[in-house]
Amino acid sequence: MLILGLETSCDDTAAAVLRVQSDGQAGLPTKVEILADLVQSQAATHLPYGGVVPELASRRHLENIVPVTEAVLAKAGIELAAVDLLAATRGPGLVGSLLVGFNFAKALSLAARIPLVGVDHIAGHLASVFLGERQPTFPHLALTASGGHSSLFLVDSPTSCQVVGRTRDDAAGEAFDKVAKLLGLGYPGGPEISRRAAAGDPSAYDFPRARLKTEGFDFSFSGLKTAVAGQVQQHPPAGAQELADLCASFQEAVVAALVNQTLAAAAHFAVREVVIGGGVAANPRLRQSLSQAARQRGIRVLLPRQRFCTDNAAMIALAGFFYRHQAGFDPDGDVYSRPAINQLPRPSGQGV
Ligand code: KG4
Ligand code: ZN
Repeated sequence: MLILGLETSCDDTAAAVLRVQSDGQAGLPTKVEILADLVQSQAATHLPYGGVVPELASRRHLENIVPVTEAVLAKAGIELAAVDLLAATRGPGLVGSLLVGFNFAKALSLAARIPLVGVDHIAGHLASVFLGERQPTFPHLALTASGGHSSLFLVDSPTSCQVVGRTRDDAAGEAFDKVAKLLGLGYPGGPEISRRAAAGDPSAYDFPRARLKTEGFDFSFSGLKTAVAGQVQQHPPAGAQELADLCASFQEAVVAALVNQTLAAAAHFAVREVVIGGGVAANPRLRQSLSQAARQRGIRVLLPRQRFCTDNAAMIALAGFFYRHQAGFDPDGDVYSRPAINQLPRPSGQGV
């Protein structure tokens, strides 16, 4: 089946066309081909403001959504009429941004008579690992860490999971972004901090490991952020090396918290496989540290390609495939800004 995915939850306008084959039995894909995958970044628009400006983001989406969709269909070499399923992000995210993509998808659905499935963005991040060569087995443990959330899920099937840990305050990516802002490193902060950290000493500063001392597998990153802010206030980094050391030490504290909690949860639930997703999963130090620590414990780690960790529409198209039985057209289908109370991806609901 040919799936057109659209993603506009934050500041990237993304579209992708996937051809997915399945045996129809377990509902799992037997073959996934990415025919085209485009991300139109708005980074330059938001850079001067040190973060995403929602009003500007939705305006840029309005400008970009039609050209990006036309371009992705052209790149895939197909007409819209050949598409079997539309999948568009419904939430969580910025409402103005979501409204542009989701209403555009509704209009396409109505005009071209193609069923539409509304996709939860976090379900998209959970699906990104299925875009790789090796398919995960079930149950597995999934860490999703991005700018909006950081959670650990015990995943029983592509559409069934339970949350076993979450951040109590800042998301991991948000911590990267806030620390980058106070260091004057621009937005988004994660890629720039990880680039600087590569030349730094991770043991130069003894920042608190960003995890809760209580039972369970929750995270907390606000104390770490405050510690970095205090350090910078007292001793602003003098020169590129000190800045690199600061970035490396901060990054190490985040990575240690993510790796420790993920592997502790894997041991607790006796799962032998761990997957990651979300923008922070593109971080090279996290990928390396998790792989190394997991190998020592005999746990398999599946890492999506870096471009499928940050926001993209291929993961939304594949999540749409998983929820394809809920596709249809619901004129009242609406977007939502916040994750569900329990942080689980929301089911697509009736129609959309
Ligand atoms: O998944 P994503 O693209 O968007 C959201 O759903 O939020 O994640 C974006 C977040 C940003 O906070 C960004 O700073 C972070 O992921 N990020 C990284 C890296 N690349 C992106 N964090 C650490 N290291 C990276 N290499
Ligand atoms: Zn995301």
